[in-house]
Amino acid sequence: MNKTKVLFVCLGNICRSPTAEGVFRHVVAERNLAKLFEIDSAGTSDWHVNKSPDGRTVKAAAKRGYDLSSFRGRQAVAKDFEHFDYILAMDESNLSNLRALAPANHSANLGLFLDFAHNFDQQEVPDPYYGGADGFELVLDLIEDASNGFLEQVLDKLS
Ligand code: 4NP
Repeated sequence: MNKTKVLFVCLGNICRSPTAEGVFRHVVAERNLAKLFEIDSAGTSDWHVNKSPDGRTVKAAAKRGYDLSSFRGRQAVAKDFEHFDYILAMDESNLSNLRALAPANHSANLGLFLDFAHNFDQQEVPDPYYGGADGFELVLDLIEDASNGFLEQVLDKLS
């Protein structure tokens, strides 16, 4: 079976999208479904290319059992729209940057990751970079919810 290819995108690729990559990898692995997915993350900016995720992000994720330490930043590129089935943005600004990058007539499913959340009404994962520790916990809460909802939806479509 073809793998479902998923790319999570934020601005810097050091806080929100690596968290989404790590949480979704974990959720999928827990259900022995890793073989069905290819999972990656990227930033719309080139500010943190080849850098590790933010230390606060790595620490908050590790406390919940997610290991993000091996991830390195990369910038989203137009070719990602040919490769990935789903390109999921953390906020509206990321989404509009992605729309500007997207080739005409691409067939990727481009949208907001939190559209798949069940327990939260908000549409955006707030950027935690300039805030306190609470922001990193909220990022994890939102992303855990959306990861479960997204997996359910993909499995429904495959069945
Ligand atoms: P992210 O957070 O988009 O969730 O990775 C940010 C990381 C870095 C910056 C802004 C947001 N920055 O300004 O460098």
